Amino acid sequence: MDTLFINIKELLQVRTAPIEFVSGKEMSELPSIKNAYLTVRDGIITGFGSMSNCPKTDGFKLIDATGKLVLPAWCDSHTHLVYAGNREGEFVDRIKGLSYEEIANNGGGILNSAKKLQVTSEEELYQQSKVRLEEVMQLGTGAIEIKSGYGLTEDAEIKMLNVIKRLKENYPIEIKATFLGAHAVPSAYKNDKAGYLQLVINSILPKIAAQSLASYIDVFCETGYFSVADTELILAAGKKHGLIPKIHVNQFTAIGGVQTGVKYNALSVDHLELMREEDIEVLKNTRTMPVALPSCSYFLSIPYTPARKMIEAGLPLALATDYNPGSTPSGNMNFVVATACIKMKMTPEEAINAATINGAYAMGLSDKTGSITIGKQANLILTKQINSFGCIPYSFGNHQIDTVYIKGMPVDK
Ligand code: NIG
Ligand code: FE
Repeated sequence: MDTLFINIKELLQVRTAPIEFVSGKEMSELPSIKNAYLTVRDGIITGFGSMSNCPKTDGFKLIDATGKLVLPAWCDSHTHLVYAGNREGEFVDRIKGLSYEEIANNGGGILNSAKKLQVTSEEELYQQSKVRLEEVMQLGTGAIEIKSGYGLTEDAEIKMLNVIKRLKENYPIEIKATFLGAHAVPSAYKNDKAGYLQLVINSILPKIAAQSLASYIDVFCETGYFSVADTELILAAGKKHGLIPKIHVNQFTAIGGVQTGVKYNALSVDHLELMREEDIEVLKNTRTMPVALPSCSYFLSIPYTPARKMIEAGLPLALATDYNPGSTPSGNMNFVVATACIKMKMTPEEAINAATINGAYAMGLSDKTGSITIGKQANLILTKQINSFGCIPYSFGNHQIDTVYIKGMPVDK
């Protein structure tokens, strides 16, 4: 049955002509229609406009949105939502003074999660992960990217990607899978990083590609993890198998990962807590989306991505959660949007663009979601009765969601 939303106080992120992403000054514009209607059929947006042009209500399931806003559901383009157990102990260790780096050097960090995941069955991993997926859907996420990278053996990486595949099959939300075999050098290869790279390139990657388990390839390009040269090897191998790069760069140190991403036509370069002039410069006029992860900066007390500098240089910017057990145990995009405004000085318009249309682009979905456009998926947030969209970031630590719709269907609360 067709659905008709009526009396929408403001319909936000309305794009009649399809766009891929917005950058620079355009990010401060959030086109909208006040006192609007919206129609949905078979999960797709079929029409919208001013209430004065609203179709006859006969035959529609009616939703009265008086006093409420409608915007596209959040597009979370960077998560590690499939993981086993948690790292609560390391959280307390950090409170007591150990650094993230010290914890990782003592065998904690990514290797700690890998150890847990390797001994967790696929079924158990699925059960733990689906709880988190349901939680983020309730918090307004309507499309999501999920990475492997806590397996670090052939079996465990494939186990993670199979869990992502099962989530894809069992939930209406659009999910994109990324292979992150080069997340950390596993203990078994402690003194043989080259050997691990060979395993990833010659053994794991071809299997993943043959089973179509991932669309994207990622590397943690960082001092103490994978160098620019390592990153190039992995990206080149990924490309041979048709996997598009989306990479972790400039989180703790700036070592040229942004340049590598651009060189390999990465769809996105993510983290960017440290940005040098040349890192901003090289992203100009490219199709590589910079992605900021402010909840990670918040949780680890590290610098925030310099959003103002980047937007003022004319770049686009996307926002994502980085949901993972070590640096960001939160998948709440409402908090991400609020933190981007509060700590990165993005305006609400810029933050909403970054968390919708630009996030969709950063996972190859800007033709399907991220804006209110005829033909796109009806992935929608219907807000509570609020004054204006500024209330979304203003009420940080909370959310203003009444109901989330994914492909036109309400998400169970
Ligand atoms: O994006 N930086 C690399 N990977 C994750 C965190 C890894 C972990 O601590 O488990 C991130 O922050
Ligand atoms: Fe990450």
